[in-house]
Amino acid sequence: MHNGIIENFHSLRQSLLADGVEFTSETDTEVVAHLVASAYADSGDLTRAMQDVVGTLEGAFTLLAVHADAPNTVVAARRNSPLVVGLGDGENFMGSDVAAFIGHTRKALELGQDQIVTITPDSCDVINFDGTPSEGKAYDVTWDAAAAEKDGYDTFMEKEIHDQPHAVRDTLLGRTDENGQLVLDEMSITEQDLRGISKIVIVACGTAAYAGMVAKYAIERWTRIPVEVELAHEFRYRDPVIDENTLVVSISQSGETADTLMAVRHAKELGARTLSICNTHGSTIPRESDAVLYTHAGPEIAVASTKAFVAQITASYILGLYLAQLRGGSFGRNAAEVLEELHGIPAKMSDLLGNLARVKEIAYFMADTRSVLFLGRHVGFPIAMEGALKLKELAYIHAEGFAAGELKHGPIALIEPGQPVFIVVPSPSAENGLHGKVVSNIQEIRARGAAHW
Ligand code: BG6
Repeated sequence: MHNGIIENFHSLRQSLLADGVEFTSETDTEVVAHLVASAYADSGDLTRAMQDVVGTLEGAFTLLAVHADAPNTVVAARRNSPLVVGLGDGENFMGSDVAAFIGHTRKALELGQDQIVTITPDSCDVINFDGTPSEGKAYDVTWDAAAAEKDGYDTFMEKEIHDQPHAVRDTLLGRTDENGQLVLDEMSITEQDLRGISKIVIVACGTAAYAGMVAKYAIERWTRIPVEVELAHEFRYRDPVIDENTLVVSISQSGETADTLMAVRHAKELGARTLSICNTHGSTIPRESDAVLYTHAGPEIAVASTKAFVAQITASYILGLYLAQLRGGSFGRNAAEVLEELHGIPAKMSDLLGNLARVKEIAYFMADTRSVLFLGRHVGFPIAMEGALKLKELAYIHAEGFAAGELKHGPIALIEPGQPVFIVVPSPSAENGLHGKVVSNIQEIRARGAAHW
């Protein structure tokens, strides 16, 4: 089993081919399997074989190997890719996340980078890639086992969509003292250093990056600190303008996304302070960051992120309000009012989730749609892009998210009779007056015959 990418697999494959090895696929995974088989033929020891092979690999990977003659022994290795061991009674487990075994044991073993672990039902031995012994760090999983079950829903994703009010409520819990002041216990960057922050860069991938884009609007407004949002894989391969007064905030549900981890390391090398907004306790990104703000969404098992998204926005808002409070600007004084509004969100979410009949009806009519557009302005813009991402990832329907103001600069050409368009409409009471502008966009789109419900 292999998770990740072996970057030098082509040259390794060429030398195996030269040795007469026959391949049944084009994958990098098969290259590793042949390498492990060949190293095992030399030493007769699977752990040793794994150790010999990882030394030749470049990239980020988690590898698991089992010998057909000894199915009770599993050897695994990790480099910049997730792997956690579950320690049971007469049984041990491996997974990329504790959710994989939480139904069997609450004891887990955290592994460091570049380590190899060998498990049998009764033993668990860890070594470093260089062969020196290590112990790993045992910890108790605090997540409730029930959180990793479907609770009567057909899929984990459906359950997690319905978990959203809890995710927001739990992420807000315990953040204020008796005077209503925000206190972030996990924040190990000093208040003085946080006051000196002159720029914030948010790095993340996928849904987490859209949560960061939503957060940018709020954090800039509340703190007047400039905020950039960058996809982690773009950030790490350029030369960003970063110094010790830059706060690099990574957002990740899993805390293990390799590109985000590499971006955090890059930021540290450049001297920035790093803060992780993360849902998974003990995962690599918060461990390697200067500070962490945990979202309390509970395990997110479905691959496509749902409840983590709203929890990430909530945690980013808490961070923004905390910075505003520390810096004492006008919004610092209004933080309590904003927090109160945030506390009201879970109930609104529950109302919406309690009435999904209309959503199901629209989905039924759209089942054969080939392409969908999503439009939004202000925070509705990243929400539109997240909507498009979800539709692509889950329904395999082509979808694009646009800033509604961009409509006249090109995308309007795509609107033909029958084209479905979802529009995120700001509240009529929003101070920025954008409601009217989005309503005009709707009129333009309707005039072109777009489908509407
Ligand atoms: C992708 C998932 O693979 O990873 C997305 O499909 C997710 O849903 C993204 O947002 C980033 O993951 P994480 O764990 O860093 O938030």
